[in-house]
Amino acid sequence: MLLREHIALAVEKKTALGHFNISNLEGFWAVVNVAKNLNLPVIIGVSEGERDFLGIKQIKALVDSVKAEGLPVFLNADHTYSLERIKEVVDAGYDSVIIDEAEKSFEENLRITKEAVAYAKAKEVLVEAELGFIGKSSKLLDEIPEGVSKTTVEEARKFVEETGIDLFAPAVGNVHGMLKSGLEPKLDIELIKQIKEAVRIPLVLHGASGNSDEEIKEAISAGISIIHINTELRVAYRKGLIKSLQDNPDEIAPYKYLRPALKEMESVIEKKLKLFNNL
Ligand code: G3H
Ligand code: ZN
Repeated sequence: MLLREHIALAVEKKTALGHFNISNLEGFWAVVNVAKNLNLPVIIGVSEGERDFLGIKQIKALVDSVKAEGLPVFLNADHTYSLERIKEVVDAGYDSVIIDEAEKSFEENLRITKEAVAYAKAKEVLVEAELGFIGKSSKLLDEIPEGVSKTTVEEARKFVEETGIDLFAPAVGNVHGMLKSGLEPKLDIELIKQIKEAVRIPLVLHGASGNSDEEIKEAISAGISIIHINTELRVAYRKGLIKSLQDNPDEIAPYKYLRPALKEMESVIEKKLKLFNNL
């Protein structure tokens, strides 16, 4: 089954596909192991920085190697800030791409997104775009990033209609990263419902680290079909790694001292995938 078909199934079943960002091989195996155990499709996300670190073609080859074993694992070029970099991943054969011009004006965002759609669709790669600013980094935050906004229903309708994108990421109270205080802003469930009704294409929730299980469930019922998690995984990896190094000060085999970090990520992914799929 293609990614497009898995998304259509999630829309029909009112569940959401998990999208997990990775930076290294431990992240890759954490996502694949859990998806395999739960028998669920999953999307691996790599931002520009993450895929430069992993290797643009190398991470694609890794995903292909597990696909060849029959696992529904897909690769998304997350937050991509130029057409040049969109072309690079479309040509490399990624399953989907995100053109992120959310910080630009509505008109500029529209214009560049249309160009990305024209290039990617010719090669059957799904295109997602964003409207409304939700911050840029998957990190621990002292405060809500400056300029965070919400998407309006009318702009969403016009943007989706004119660009012809496959997937839409609205700003609905979500923020990239996680507040150190734990006081994550609440998701605007009513706005998700209204945008879903207006655009009639699958919606993607970014910045879902730190949002409560209850809110996530409501967001899925309101029309979210893909959910992005990054910061919680980064925190888990680091926590697992620090503890592992402290507990085993003489261990020098990376495959041994990195295992607890991988396990910490697996437990976050398992919890999220069960939540997104009502398991
Ligand atoms: O595209 C990546 C996600 O939107 C991650 O957001 O770091 O808040 O989980 P997060
Ligand atoms: Zn994001």
